[in-house]
Amino acid sequence: MVNALISSLSLVALAAQGSLAWKAGSECTSSYSYINYTSVPGFFVQDDPSSSTTNFDYTTSNFGLINQTYPTDANFTQCGAPATQWQRFAHYVNSLNAASPASVAYKVLFLARHGEGWHNAAETYYGTPAWNCYYSLLDGNGTAVWADALLTPAGVAQAVKANTFWRSQLSQQKMPAPQSYYSSPLSRCLITANITFGDLSLPAARPFVPTVKEFFREGISIHTCDRRRSKSYIHDLLPSWKFEDGFSETDLIWNGVTAEDSSGQYARSKVVLDEVFTDDEATWISVTSHSGEIGSLLSVLGHRSWSLSTGQAVPVLVKAERMPAPYPSKTIAAWSSAVTCAGPPVSSGAGGCVCSTGATALPTVV
Ligand SMILES: *[C@@H]1O[C@H](CO)[C@@H](O)[C@H](O)[C@H]1NC(C)=O
Ligand SMILES: *[C@@H]1O[C@H](CO)[C@@H](O)[C@H](O)[C@H]1NC(C)=O
Ligand SMILES: *[C@@H]1O[C@H](CO)[C@@H](O)[C@H](O)[C@H]1NC(C)=O
Ligand SMILES: *[C@@H]1O[C@H](CO)[C@@H](O)[C@H](O)[C@H]1NC(C)=O
Ligand SMILES: *[C@@H]1O[C@H](CO)[C@@H](O)[C@H](O)[C@H]1NC(C)=O
Repeated sequence: MVNALISSLSLVALAAQGSLAWKAGSECTSSYSYINYTSVPGFFVQDDPSSSTTNFDYTTSNFGLINQTYPTDANFTQCGAPATQWQRFAHYVNSLNAASPASVAYKVLFLARHGEGWHNAAETYYGTPAWNCYYSLLDGNGTAVWADALLTPAGVAQAVKANTFWRSQLSQQKMPAPQSYYSSPLSRCLITANITFGDLSLPAARPFVPTVKEFFREGISIHTCDRRRSKSYIHDLLPSWKFEDGFSETDLIWNGVTAEDSSGQYARSKVVLDEVFTDDEATWISVTSHSGEIGSLLSVLGHRSWSLSTGQAVPVLVKAERMPAPYPSKTIAAWSSAVTCAGPPVSSGAGGCVCSTGATALPTVV
């Protein structure tokens, strides 16, 4: 499986040959070696190093957009009511794109974490150590199923809250609706995105037709919550949604034995961002994903660490630049296995799992 992932990473090279427009009105056909991402500071509370992450709620803070004037306010004209902060920000971002060279594109990503799933509830219920050593390897406990978990009632409520927020932002703040939507293939994200956006009154030119992308899925652990269902299942659940090219019928990545580490996750997070930035000229992009994966995406984007509780979202103004020089090499660690117990552990933690008698540690398979 390491090989499957590494071979997908040749997509980096593929993306580098792309000649598609990556922002509206730009036909950039010059060759480049890689895309360098930077998160542009000064616009959102979330990337201000002095702001606190504790209890931050994007739904009570206008998504974190900082109140300020922009140099482009002066030539922003519209009829009727005074322009909102979001309208002026949208004009500013569009102006950045218009004024930047063909090798540079600006996009605003709305990165949303799914609402609470049954795996989150189970980890809380059993405690993280016992969860990691044993319960996470099961499909469920007879009451709850957490393999490719669905949302708990609390998770549905979080998605409904996101839906209420977006409805208000679109009508009150005149916030730009996303032009493109992407989702992880895991059920908790599909359902969260659908509840968040599925029934909004959206501009006709910006319909809610998400694309499912494999590499927006959560960090691949050996937990069953990271194993996805089939393409057919997703299609039957949400028939109008699209899949990226090459999306496999079954999950070819999760194996239940070995897990990717942060270096592998970083590499494929860069691949998926490269795909989106190469194939999609949209500026306003929604991604529904996971806490670990959004953390990895933020790292590729050069954004400071920003953790999201279930149902929360973070916006990022991204500057992407096509660079001529070769991409600095990065080492990607091989996938590794973890020691787990065949039954509930006696104890666990930093020292690893201590399995109860009669429930010895499962063999380490490489
Ligand atoms: C990406 O761009 C930033 C800002 O211009 C620069 O500091 C950084 O060195 C670049 N990184 C790479 C890998 O090109
Ligand atoms: C931003 O301005 C709005 C409207 O004037 C106000 O309600 C809000 O409290 C301000 N936010 C901050 C963080 O100052
Ligand atoms: C708007 O103002 C900005 C900043 O002064 C300038 O760069 C841009 O060209 C102006 N756009 C138009 C359409 O006048
Ligand atoms: C199964 O796990 C859920 C948490 O996901 C918990 O609420 C429930 O009580 C558990 N059932 C049993 C039989 O332990
Ligand atoms: C998706 O959202 C639409 C619109 O709200 C709804 O009709 C449909 O039942 C939802 N499907 C799922 C699987 O959540």
